[in-house]
Amino acid sequence: MHKLTGMLTLGAITMMLAIAGNAADRISDFSLIDHHGKFHQLSRYADHDAVVLISHLRGDRDSRRALDAFNELTSDFADRDIAFFVLDSSGETDKTILGKDAERNGVEVPVLMDDTRLVAKQLGLNHAAEVVILDPESRERVFKGVINNRFAAEGRSRRASEHYAADALRQVLSGAQPDAPALASGADAIEFDLDAGISYAEDIVPILERRCVSCHNEGGIAPFAMTNHQIVQGWSPMIREVLYTKRMPPGQIDNDYVRDFKEVSHITVEETQTLVQWIDEGAHFDGGKDPLPGLQPELVKWSYGEPDLVLPIPAQQIPATGVQDYRNLTVPLPIEEDIWVKAVEFEAGDPTVLHHIIAFAYGPDGLNEFEVLNQGIGLGAYAPGNEINTYPEGAGFPLKAGGGLFLQMHYTTSGRETVDASEVALYLWDEDPERTVFGGSAAEWQIDIAPHSRQEMTAAKTFRQDVYLSMLGPHMHYRGYDARFRLIHPDGESEEILNVPNYQFNWQKVYDFKEPLFVQAGSKLEFSGTFDNTETNPFNPDASQTLSWGEQTWQEMFFGFFRYVEAGPGE
Ligand code: HEC
Repeated sequence: MHKLTGMLTLGAITMMLAIAGNAADRISDFSLIDHHGKFHQLSRYADHDAVVLISHLRGDRDSRRALDAFNELTSDFADRDIAFFVLDSSGETDKTILGKDAERNGVEVPVLMDDTRLVAKQLGLNHAAEVVILDPESRERVFKGVINNRFAAEGRSRRASEHYAADALRQVLSGAQPDAPALASGADAIEFDLDAGISYAEDIVPILERRCVSCHNEGGIAPFAMTNHQIVQGWSPMIREVLYTKRMPPGQIDNDYVRDFKEVSHITVEETQTLVQWIDEGAHFDGGKDPLPGLQPELVKWSYGEPDLVLPIPAQQIPATGVQDYRNLTVPLPIEEDIWVKAVEFEAGDPTVLHHIIAFAYGPDGLNEFEVLNQGIGLGAYAPGNEINTYPEGAGFPLKAGGGLFLQMHYTTSGRETVDASEVALYLWDEDPERTVFGGSAAEWQIDIAPHSRQEMTAAKTFRQDVYLSMLGPHMHYRGYDARFRLIHPDGESEEILNVPNYQFNWQKVYDFKEPLFVQAGSKLEFSGTFDNTETNPFNPDASQTLSWGEQTWQEMFFGFFRYVEAGPGE
């Protein structure tokens, strides 16, 4: 299929015999964010002929000059199906700085933020100005060495006369074994400032407790429980992989926005380094008493607290197989007087089949009464990892006596017949709140995605009055790749307010602002995202399909949901 792949299978033996330090080491999959906040995962370049990276240290002179040679390399091979990257391993975490650096150096390819330096370490890049060529399909490293002899540590020449990386790439593309010398560069060394002697009890357990155990516990939603050292050690190769690929903790967003939202999944650079280093050293227990068994969270049914009202949802029979249409259920409210909801929590009956619930309100005269309030995801929604819905301080959702909840239920079959008996809990305001919470969405229904393609899409919504935004929730299906929200202020200035680089359909996260965001009348909320309908999308059920809008998961949707309250005069 691909030249490089053919070469690798045929040339496997040659590879084994290869000298010059270029033996084909297999690289574990990894994911990094680039200077635009875009997500790149090595395995998602499996359809390319090669992936080529140059190690870079911002501020190092040689490194900067080597980028000129790298730019030349990228343009020389521009007509080939090669993914080029600059790998910034200076530890810089500010995308703007990386972007300016790229611009100054004329770099047009993505600059990957290797903030943990774990990727450089894995690729064997010890200095700036070194190039690695990877076969993205087998994930073998087929070349590593200084880009040209001008930057070689030994036998350095004033002018570049030997273009090692270009030679190697040409050989690789023609199916030959690269014989260019794998020399080290004389540019600055990449610092792998990882601590030695990591303690399981003192260093590892606190990280697991902070970042993982809330789901990975007995009775939790994750497939294994971190209940003692042995289990963690047994899973450690997988843990390493999910950290390298940023799959766990799930639903990570761009670091720039972690501080703005409540309860986002996050893990720091140091925590990731510590975990991976510990695993690489054998994931040992350094003795004493294992603190992990004592840290298992207490299982409570309603994590938001004791509810004021619990509404059982009529039990649903779910067959073992087959496509399930949305089920629309109504649940009357057992109340005599109108109420104001403060928060909503869902308890999934059978999480293996319950895909989502969206709760809307109806009044004694039906759904129409709630037309405005039911915009977006209305009163609240359930998706795995998103059980609790809260509103901004002092805001509520009114419900009427004689009315009830209208629930849109979506099930996916699991191969096993089951019954789902889910519940909704309502938390109420004691006194009428000052504000009403509204929902909405920036959406696009005209979806037409070609087979084997990637496509970007944008939808927008204009606010007619001053509001406070309190929640953002991107929604696409299996082809969703990334998602962003921007505010276009009335003066035309565009401001990014959330970037979800690695959108994952399985984690329908919504993001609640810690402090609701003031939005001036006339501003536009813009939702943009990318659909990935190629084979390299691991979630794609069928890349040969043309996609249009549809309720089922293999069809597509494009919603940027939000919640807001109206701002009072003079606020
Ligand atoms: C919000 C809940 C949640 C948190 C927090 C979380 N996980 Fe997970 N984890 C899951 C779920 C659910 C799965 C299975 C589905 C999936 O892979 O998305 C999973 C899967 C995994 C797997 C892969 C299992 C497999 O067989 O593929 C590993 C390894 C893992 N988690 C490690 C971690 C580590 C390490 C952390 C902390 C740094 C963590 N998880 C944090 C919920 C969570």
